[in-house]
Amino acid sequence: MTAPNPRLSSVLSPGHRALITGASGGIGESFARLLAARGLDLVLVARSEGKLRALATELSAAHGIRAEVLATDLSRPDAPRQLHAACEARGLPVDLLINNAGFGSLGPFDANPFEREHEQVMLNVTALMDLTHLFLPAMLARGTGGIINVASIAGYQPVPYMAVYAATKAFVLSFTEALWGETRERGVRVLALCPGPVETGFFDVVGTRDAAVGIMATPEDVAAAGLRGLEQGRASVIPGWRNRIQSSLPRIFSRTLTVRVAARMMKPRGPTAPKLAPGAAPARR
Ligand SMILES: NC(=O)c1ccc[n+]([C@@H]2O[C@H](COP(=O)([O-])OP(=O)(O)OC[C@H]3O[C@@H](n4cnc5c(N)ncnc54)[C@H](OP(=O)(O)O)[C@@H]3O)[C@@H](O)[C@H]2O)c1
Repeated sequence: MTAPNPRLSSVLSPGHRALITGASGGIGESFARLLAARGLDLVLVARSEGKLRALATELSAAHGIRAEVLATDLSRPDAPRQLHAACEARGLPVDLLINNAGFGSLGPFDANPFEREHEQVMLNVTALMDLTHLFLPAMLARGTGGIINVASIAGYQPVPYMAVYAATKAFVLSFTEALWGETRERGVRVLALCPGPVETGFFDVVGTRDAAVGIMATPEDVAAAGLRGLEQGRASVIPGWRNRIQSSLPRIFSRTLTVRVAARMMKPRGPTAPKLAPGAAPARR
């Protein structure tokens, strides 16, 4: 295991600032609570401005930190640049960027709504890459900083009937591990956090828990595992031993076999299967 990097550890200490996307609930909210308790100032980002404001007020009062709210829809192409510009205009340098906002869709690719699949790539991939590109240079110039990109165990293999979601998470995993290799000796560490199923609002967006397999982790445990992994200077973290085994199966068996097994497991059943609501997504992530 890589030894903690003292300069990086300082990013997680009081007085530094973390920007968290998808902070209005689930894993992002847990990151916000853990970091506020450690004395970090926060920039909270999501679409639900009311939830973000309530969280900012609560955490500022509880921990004496400064918490800013920048509500935006990150699936819009211009949103990352506007978010970065807003941070610059308000004098909010970001020491830790947590690209967490994301969602999944379930169903045959050809039957899923065009707009929903497009939005998924814009949020899970394009916004994450754009924000990394916008905030990383200042971290490198300061010689310190951290980025956590939330991927998924779905990023380790193709997943039929959630083809776009798994592909977006494969991008996040590959992109993040590559950046880890580029930046690890320049004072900045990047980490891919790859959870299995987590008890969050993800399933409300999905519209079903039928496909949930395995033991659900809590968002608190997953966020804590991400912060530990960052402190240890790791390239990626898969919380939970069952998830670590599952993610290694494509390396043990042939890729086509794991895809065929996944297709059987994920195939929507019943007469309503082709009519899944936009954004409906499975729980095997
Ligand atoms: N839960 C799991 O089982 C699981 C497993 C592996 C990976 N993940 C990943 O973990 C990350 C967090 O998900 P979660 O489980 O915490 O789900 P969640 O509770 O649904 O949280 C998703 C967050 O993303 C925000 N968001 C969604 N669309 C957005 C948009 N267009 N612009 C800005 N913010 C947006 C949501 O806020 P608003 O709706 O207010 O915008 C919310 O804060 C995602 O990347 C997901 O893929 C989750």
